[in-house]
Amino acid sequence: MNGLIDTHAHLNDEAFAPAEIPAVVERAQAAGVGRIIVPGYDLPSSRRAVELAEAFPGLYATVGVHPHQAAEAPPYYLAELRALARGGKVVALGEIGLDYHYAFSPREIQLRAFQEQLELAGELSLPVVIHDREAHADTLRLLVESQPPAGGVLHCYSGSLELAEQLLPLGLRFSFGGAVTFPNARRLLEVVRGLPAEALLLETDSPYLAPVPQRGRRNEPAYLKLVAERVAELRGWTPEELALRTTANARAAFPALAAQ
Ligand code: NI
Repeated sequence: MNGLIDTHAHLNDEAFAPAEIPAVVERAQAAGVGRIIVPGYDLPSSRRAVELAEAFPGLYATVGVHPHQAAEAPPYYLAELRALARGGKVVALGEIGLDYHYAFSPREIQLRAFQEQLELAGELSLPVVIHDREAHADTLRLLVESQPPAGGVLHCYSGSLELAEQLLPLGLRFSFGGAVTFPNARRLLEVVRGLPAEALLLETDSPYLAPVPQRGRRNEPAYLKLVAERVAELRGWTPEELALRTTANARAAFPALAAQ
């Protein structure tokens, strides 16, 4: 399997020491993962994502404030995201969204930050990378209200097929990671099987959610191969077909990636 794109890997997380990054990128390339999108989750990690994308040809960045960090975002955060987004290798705004499972930030602050960043994505015509955990109804409502003009991706999608069908007309796609290799993932597997082929993307969400048999270890983009093999099996695609399709989908979801 070659030419895979890991659409969501936090190489900007402290789990990856700066000195280690070249080896992590090399292992990914050796495993057929040629491109990696590094999503920001607050201002420092967004700056770091841009810095990494500028240092390595196969890396790209997104910039944004995650719902967990929304309460700590300084008042000038939107202005800084706008400035960071001008970088040539920034392919989306994210990750942004809502998390009512952990609720590290109060709901009203999460909702405001999500709304403000959806508006910014609209202003910049950038796709959005969305985190939605146990907040499906509000996520859907805000997305329907904002009609993101450049579409986007629901990362680590955990909703139902019915919800996905409401999100598809908004130009949204869905990415899947290590959870597809876990036992007891029956409902998730139904979603992976049932979505239109054009809507499927792959991710690792490194350093989290390592796929079986690496589960419990630090995840890294090289393990995308394990996710890809499982998704190919679920869809009845050959590994080559899976790689071609998901890579084309990632390029469609993130046009700045296709342009480079
Ligand atoms: Ni993430």
